[in-house]
Amino acid sequence: MREPLVVGNWKLQGSLVSVEALLGDLLSATPVVGVEIAVCPTYVHLGRAITMCGRSLLAVGAQDCSYVQSGAYTGEVSPAMLAEIGCHWVILGHSERRQYQGESDALIAAKLAAAVEADLSPIVCVGETREQREAGSAQAIVSAQLEGALKGQANLDRVVIAYEPVWAIGTGLTATPEQAQQMQAFIRGCLMDISGVDATATRILYGGSVKAGNAASLFVQPDIDGALVGGAALIAADFLAIINAAAA
Ligand code: PGA
Repeated sequence: MREPLVVGNWKLQGSLVSVEALLGDLLSATPVVGVEIAVCPTYVHLGRAITMCGRSLLAVGAQDCSYVQSGAYTGEVSPAMLAEIGCHWVILGHSERRQYQGESDALIAAKLAAAVEADLSPIVCVGETREQREAGSAQAIVSAQLEGALKGQANLDRVVIAYEPVWAIGTGLTATPEQAQQMQAFIRGCLMDISGVDATATRILYGGSVKAGNAASLFVQPDIDGALVGGAALIAADFLAIINAAAA
């Protein structure tokens, strides 16, 4: 049985005041059982979020990390530092980082190894662009991203995959539940071919315009084990509705 996981990716949004307010709303809601929950604020808001979440069921993650643990790397934040302050999760290879920071599969693989070494639980994002889907190469792109990040890793016990079609992120264009399920089943098949991955036990999230109104139809799909939520994770009522849909 794969426990559903719902992760809020807050991206470069908010202020300390709005982050505290949002966390306050989430923490005062009735705890939901049977679903794992996490929020991923910016680096500067992580410490406050971890303090506020304390021993609650709300875990905290980072949106990225360095591929090294320490050294002369100005501006970087290491997985070991994140783990030390109480971060549990780290998102890796988000399409916005692939696009705006030019992150390659090789860099994402190095970050994944460093994150696991520091005892963080990694969420590795994969997904095709609209052009790639229209050209019929979506599966080839996604399988190459998976192999590039996961092959040869020493420990993939806690890895989570997030399938996020780039054309669905922040656009309001969600993949249909059938489209998402088809790719997520394909991803599970790819995982079976990667040594060190327990494909049946590995959670595969869907991300890309997940909202309160479409979450339930996505979560009933057999290979959708939760969601990585952007915009809707910034509104407490919407995020809570998605969490409740995952628990249902
Ligand atoms: P969205 O973002 O829910 O706003 O589409 C998802 C993501 O980028 O993780």
